[in-house]
Amino acid sequence: MNSNQTTGLNWDASLPILRDTQLRERNSLGFAATAELSCVIRGAEQIPLLMSTVLSACIPWRVLGGGSNVVLPAHLPGITLLMEIGGQAIISTDQTATQIRVGAGVNWHAFVTWSLMHGLPGLENLALIPGTTGAAPIQNIGAYGVEVSDLIQSITAFDCTAQAFVEMTPDACQFAYRDSIFKRQPQRYIISAVTFSLPKNWVPQLQYADLTNFFSSQKNLPSPTAIFDAVCTIRQNKLPDPKVIGNVGSFFKNPSVSQIQLTQLLNAFPKMITYPQSNGSHKLAAGWLIDQCGFKGVQRGAVGVYEKQALVLVNLGKGAATELLALASEIQAAVQDRFGVLLEIEPVRM
Ligand code: EPU
Repeated sequence: MNSNQTTGLNWDASLPILRDTQLRERNSLGFAATAELSCVIRGAEQIPLLMSTVLSACIPWRVLGGGSNVVLPAHLPGITLLMEIGGQAIISTDQTATQIRVGAGVNWHAFVTWSLMHGLPGLENLALIPGTTGAAPIQNIGAYGVEVSDLIQSITAFDCTAQAFVEMTPDACQFAYRDSIFKRQPQRYIISAVTFSLPKNWVPQLQYADLTNFFSSQKNLPSPTAIFDAVCTIRQNKLPDPKVIGNVGSFFKNPSVSQIQLTQLLNAFPKMITYPQSNGSHKLAAGWLIDQCGFKGVQRGAVGVYEKQALVLVNLGKGAATELLALASEIQAAVQDRFGVLLEIEPVRM
């Protein structure tokens, strides 16, 4: 892409278009990355104005939320939409559930905190996940037995094919483990708001081993706030704070294997950690596989594997995407060689 393609474009005068924006502070790996053009999106009405020029000029584009699940290259050609649509409001409530509509740019953890402060439990297991609310459905964030798709009523998105806003049901979003239509078709939709439906008959989700252990000595069921606090403590003990050490949480998905493969693997590796799935397949703990290959705490130049959790790759200072992806390939090859299982990279490579 040469810059002649982006100079002389006829942008709507109300759009705050900037040139050569440094994104180091906008990605949790802390990689230096320059956006050729960028535009801060504060209201949904800006999206059709911007996209009519982008789509007719055929320039590359992408949306950046909290930057906590992306690996950015040094240069981003075309235009980067910096999603900052704010606001959260209860839009309806009945005997069974409360509906809350949240702007795509709202910080996820701030929204989870807000929901509990308003007496609306349901999201406490997803506390402290970095990033924005609009990004949460893209990778269908999940932790401690809850996936965000369990609580989504609908998604408001600009459909770049129809060039119009659409309201999408959870079925239309095709949610799966760390996956959705938004991840599979990154050039189709721009999420502007998410509507949640939080059931009134709240049931604590404590089946995940870390939480079961945390509350094992307690007789009564913990409150939503106690679970929120527990999740924050567990995550802080295990995952590096991106403000201190650059990271994107889990770098690989937990791979899925068939019952036959599982039996063979358990014969060879009786200590392998596995989770049965409702469809008859089994997930393997990617962190355990990587750890067994001896990667925990290794360093390659300015990037490495976190010393307390082998599933997390880290930027130790002046790392870059090329270095990190080389380390990821080295890990994939070692795991494939030892276990015959392919690890899939979880964050989006832009
Ligand atoms: N393990 C090791 N060595 C390691 C890391 C893990 O032996 O270095 C073992 C652990 O002892 C444990 C098992 O592997 O028995 C699983 O590890 P852990 O519970 O730490 O991670 P996980 O269950 O695979 C998933 C999500 C996390 C989420 C946690 C909690 C994925 C890819 N990761 O991790 O999500 O917070 O469960 O529910 O599904 C994220 O997506 O960014 C993320 C952090």
